[in-house]
Amino acid sequence: MVVIKQLLSAAEVKEYRALLHVAPWNDGITTAMGMAASVKKNGQADAGDNQVQQLANRLLARLGHTPALLSAALPHRIFPPCFNCYGEGETYGLHVDAAIMRMPNNEILRSDLSMTTFLSEPDEYQGGELVIETEFGQQRVKLSAGDAVLYSSGSLHKVTPVTRGQRFAAITWIQSLIPDSQMRNTLHQLDQSIQNLLTNPAVAREQLDQLHHVYHNLIRQHSQV
Ligand code: NI
Repeated sequence: MVVIKQLLSAAEVKEYRALLHVAPWNDGITTAMGMAASVKKNGQADAGDNQVQQLANRLLARLGHTPALLSAALPHRIFPPCFNCYGEGETYGLHVDAAIMRMPNNEILRSDLSMTTFLSEPDEYQGGELVIETEFGQQRVKLSAGDAVLYSSGSLHKVTPVTRGQRFAAITWIQSLIPDSQMRNTLHQLDQSIQNLLTNPAVAREQLDQLHHVYHNLIRQHSQV
């Protein structure tokens, strides 16, 4: 599980929220597949609406330019983000996300990672926690507006019922260049170490180049494109 702080600034969140406020909304059940349909109760901004599409593309572009996300996910394909809202009494029960998805451009995406970008501040709603079952136990996630969390699409997860207020979020799925999650995590750690060394004046350029070399060769060996 990786948290990306301030993927969106406070000003951007405000703009997103203003656009979502006037967007057309549908029942979230229409996009749920299989077992997910029976446990999903929320609203979803109409992905066919022009303004909503523009907003999704804007967030998509941001994801493609966020070093922390690129380092952690090594994305090959990213599903255009969907915007959802949980009002009072709404929830999404325990489920796993579909493994294979068809993107609006008709390409097929294998979901390796799921991502939630919070668009409401924690004090705007009660409940509405994202609960993820990980190998280290249950993680309960409720982040500041503009922060995002990345987690394995294969993990069971749910959104607990909102008991007060409204919880807005953007969700998306990522097919990684590196299908193996352990390898992806190792590459993430290696890249973080290299980034840390970059700021250390005692480290020589040639030493860093060698590490970069290793990093890229590992990606070459383990990527699936
Ligand atoms: Ni899900």
